[in-house]
Amino acid sequence: MVKVLKVNPIRPEAERIALAARVLKSGGTVAFPTETVYGLGANCFSDSACSKIFAAKGRQPDNPLIVHLSTIKELPMVAREVPTSLEELLKRLWPGPLSVVLPKRDEVSQVASAGLPTVAVRVPAHPVALALIREAGVPVAAPSANTSTRPSPTRASHVIDDLGAKIDIVLDGGEAFFGIESTVIRPSGSGVEVLRPGPFTLDELRKHFGTTIVAESNHPSGAPPSPGMKYLHYSPKKPLVLAGSVECIKALNAELTKRGLISEAICTSDQVQGLAGPTRLLGSGKDIYEVAKNLYSAIRDFDQGSSDIGIISAFPEEGIGFAIMNRIRRACGDRIAEHPDQVKKLCDLLDSSRRGSL
Ligand code: TXA
Ligand code: MG
Repeated sequence: MVKVLKVNPIRPEAERIALAARVLKSGGTVAFPTETVYGLGANCFSDSACSKIFAAKGRQPDNPLIVHLSTIKELPMVAREVPTSLEELLKRLWPGPLSVVLPKRDEVSQVASAGLPTVAVRVPAHPVALALIREAGVPVAAPSANTSTRPSPTRASHVIDDLGAKIDIVLDGGEAFFGIESTVIRPSGSGVEVLRPGPFTLDELRKHFGTTIVAESNHPSGAPPSPGMKYLHYSPKKPLVLAGSVECIKALNAELTKRGLISEAICTSDQVQGLAGPTRLLGSGKDIYEVAKNLYSAIRDFDQGSSDIGIISAFPEEGIGFAIMNRIRRACGDRIAEHPDQVKKLCDLLDSSRRGSL
């Protein structure tokens, strides 16, 4: 069973970090908080250590891991041919929730990079993550510390629920700060291509990198630009539907109740008035960062609760809202009612897929 070590998120205790770092150095796996979500780390130079991550998560071997550094000075240990202008920029933007895909050095495990010639790299802005990587003395390959296809973990308890029996240590540093995984980019032409939107927003990317293109998962070439795009993500076991407005939440709830199903609205406190049935709050709605922070734990809690179907509200796709909606859309798939007049059709679809799974 996993060893759980509580750590102060701002001033992590040196002896606990040293213990976890020893486990990393000797080829083990350590889950730790970052400013985005919890990561499951291993020595990025060791094939056997990185294989343990894939085994614990049940991750497809063709989906590469992000390598975490404690400072940009470690970048030459893992990446090649980084243009000076890009390095100068990253010196200002790191630590932070921004992962950059770069040509990889041979020393980085082929298991971690899933056989690709590139590696995604970032310096996380979390004292526990930085202390751990520094003490381990090696860059740390770390995907989100969840079972593959489940929502990313924003608390140590989520990691323990998913991976408790399969990993060596969890550093419990409380809640992750943003609650949504890092923005993943790769240099492209005179700007960047966004492989995964995240807390480092499109506006910030445009400001620093110039031309910013958001990659489509149905890429014309057939191969998705980022392997992670082709896999199911963030999905609860129970159906989750996206409602374009409060009116849609009400109409969905009424229609599902008519069909004998208990639905639960996952929304903000300023949307909750007048809603029938159970509700689960994502925050006040005045602060979109609060919604980001609560999103995955709300989806996890909904999954463990007693309602049959979750109805999650849509958010404006601005700032971090763009990343929030990216995750919500992926969790809902094609189960969307943008307008109340689409509700009946959506409920018919839910009925037929329920019958299919009975
Ligand atoms: O915030 C985060 O990024 C968290 C924390 C722990 O740092 N990590 C995380 O890792 O979300 P993961 O493995 O769950 O997601 C990494 C994403 C995947 O979609 C993967 O396909 C993509 O980054 N990726 C990694 N290396 C890549 C590469 N060389 N080329 C293209 N995409 C890559
Ligand atoms: Mg992940």
